[in-house]
Amino acid sequence: MKAILAAGARPNFMKVAPLLRAMHKFNEERDKFFELILVHTGQHYDYEMSQVFFQDLELPEPDIYLGVGSGTHAEQTGKVMIEFEKVLFREKPDLVLVVGDVNSTLAAALAAVKLCIPVAHVEAGLRSYDRTMPEEINRLLTDAISDYLFTPSLDADENLKKEGIPKDKIFLVGDVMVDSLLYNKAKAAQSEILPQLNLAEGGYVLLTLHRPSNVDNRETLLRIIKALTEISHRIPIVFPAHPRTQKKLKEFDLLNHLPISNHQFLLIEPLGYLDFLNLEMNAKFVMTDSGGIQEETTVLNIPCLTLRNTTERPITIAQGSNVLVWNNTQKIIEEAFKILDGNAKKGTCPELWDGRAAERIVKVLAKGERI
Ligand code: UD1
Ligand code: UDP
Repeated sequence: MKAILAAGARPNFMKVAPLLRAMHKFNEERDKFFELILVHTGQHYDYEMSQVFFQDLELPEPDIYLGVGSGTHAEQTGKVMIEFEKVLFREKPDLVLVVGDVNSTLAAALAAVKLCIPVAHVEAGLRSYDRTMPEEINRLLTDAISDYLFTPSLDADENLKKEGIPKDKIFLVGDVMVDSLLYNKAKAAQSEILPQLNLAEGGYVLLTLHRPSNVDNRETLLRIIKALTEISHRIPIVFPAHPRTQKKLKEFDLLNHLPISNHQFLLIEPLGYLDFLNLEMNAKFVMTDSGGIQEETTVLNIPCLTLRNTTERPITIAQGSNVLVWNNTQKIIEEAFKILDGNAKKGTCPELWDGRAAERIVKVLAKGERI
């Protein structure tokens, strides 16, 4: 089976790595069953947003790099489609595998399905039910046109069934992001990032922010910064800032509003996977608007405050250590202080988040039921 794996943005790389590993392993047992081609769309291109993950996750160099880069949604999605379609014409794969919910995910799936090439979507069925999120549109459309829908949790299966997706296309396999986390945990524990940043185990908060709904509006960012300032009086905050957020902080002239002067707030560049995982594992708690980090903190049982009003990963709230605080200054401070006062939410690990999701996916694909 000639399979193209498409990846393009930071959260794609830790999802693709376990898939490639599982497919290579299957090849050893089954006489090169898969012919594999890794395509990098170039949606993310900075060293810290792309190349570092190839090193940390031991990913092979992409076979094909589309170099699409940044742009408006239509520009970025359109450019990936145009370039990816050329690859499809040339390579004529039997299958295209896409992961997650970024623009590259939808673009690759759409280009493939129009050429009648079967599409497998890994991390299917997640819904925030908020269509102002660009990712929600990407999820809905990718799922609607995929042939294999690999879901991380039962709620995702339910969402897909409600949308009329036939049951025989849906495969509950677990979470590939957790595959990467469990595979790399011991290695991440060796990272020297804590002494490098002069932080102590359990003695800091880890923060990430990049959702347009939080960072593209000055007033909203200010509301969040107010809460961060208050929290930083009690515990240091380390903030590896996404390039979108760095640009917005400059554009809105907000860098001098960050509580950097009290030495309790560390604004740094985005980190590689192993360093970041180490910071997650050792944090007192995490504050984030990321999708994947809600899952990782649930598996690590580290308290997580999510600065959003919805989540497409409700299991991290129902079962995990996640609490939604939106961008409400008071709510953020209240929940942070609860943790600092020793009343953190404890969670359990969802079923099938056991490090073997990619293996299950490969088994389904190898049966080739739907091809
Ligand atoms: C994208 C995904 C989002 C995901 C996030 C993960 C979409 C619609 N959004 O958001 O779901 O959570 O990635 O990080 O696909 N930039 C750089 N260097 C880079 C990449 C981006 O400077 O390597 C800057 C550019 O100014 C760019 C901006 O960041 O315009 C936003 O990048 P883009 O890929 O459009 O969206 P993200 O916010 O990264
Ligand atoms: N991550 C990282 N370095 C950082 C921030 C995040 O390695 O500085 C990892 C994080 O551990 C998780 C993934 O990136 O595996 C999440 O990606 P992101 O938050 O960019 O996207 P989302 O999950 O929101 O789509």
